[in-house]
Amino acid sequence: ALKSNRSRTLGMIVTSAHNPFFAEVIRGVEDRCYQAGYSLILCNSDDIDAKQLSYLETLRDRRIDGLVVMTAENGEGFLQALSALPLPTVMMDAEPQPGWDMTVVNDDSRLGGRLAIEHLISRGLERIALLTGPRDHARSRERLCGALGALKAAGLGVPEDWQVATDLMLEDGHRAAHLLLADPGDRPDAIFAFNDLLALGCLRAAQDLGLEVPRELSIIGYDDIEISAYLNPALTTIRQPIYDLGTTAVEQLIARLEGSPFPGQTQLAPTLVVRESVSRVDR
Ligand code: RIB
Repeated sequence: ALKSNRSRTLGMIVTSAHNPFFAEVIRGVEDRCYQAGYSLILCNSDDIDAKQLSYLETLRDRRIDGLVVMTAENGEGFLQALSALPLPTVMMDAEPQPGWDMTVVNDDSRLGGRLAIEHLISRGLERIALLTGPRDHARSRERLCGALGALKAAGLGVPEDWQVATDLMLEDGHRAAHLLLADPGDRPDAIFAFNDLLALGCLRAAQDLGLEVPRELSIIGYDDIEISAYLNPALTTIRQPIYDLGTTAVEQLIARLEGSPFPGQTQLAPTLVVRESVSRVDR
């Protein structure tokens, strides 16, 4: 029989495993690789261009069969180098790139943004601020679009200074919420944070300021990382099927390696998880 020149090794370049969200995606990727008899080489790029490029070279030298990329920042240099690789690639948290052997797997963030706002509005909350994550981040843009669409449909809006662009870590949520909540005469009733780490930072800021959540301030997050269910109050959030995003990426890569064409982009549906951090306002 002909010997396959496959290495049965896949590569993954990921922003950073600091955020528990990425750790759970990686879990899904690794589990599915193992089940299918593939090894995985995992590279943390920290969104640093030079690291992304150097890992691409390493992975190519290791003769991987395919690649999963989940990086928040995709500079031109990195995209060009990726597109030049003769390797099937699944990108996550990204936009489809026409003309390459690639596909994308994401959550439907537009739907998620809408679900979060509809929940707040259904609870009678109308003075809503948004911590939007980075403006150039594809998922953030989609969440913002869904959120603003739902507000508009209800005849509401958000003042510019209540749409705050942030990074996505705890301290970013904490800092932004302190600024948003500084003026007792002009505070939002609710904050929609575009990931759970930001929401955790908001919760801490509210506590610093002596505000009771949810009686005086409601907070809704996005992702549903494991710790969110264990907070006090437990975080109401939009759940991404985080583990399934990872397994889906690998399934698509393996199907492609076995000869199927890549599908167009895949979007998994997020869902609302109601816990304790959003109040009900009786009007
Ligand atoms: O917490 C990490 C966030 O970055 C997730 O919401 C993911 O979808 C990306 O936007």
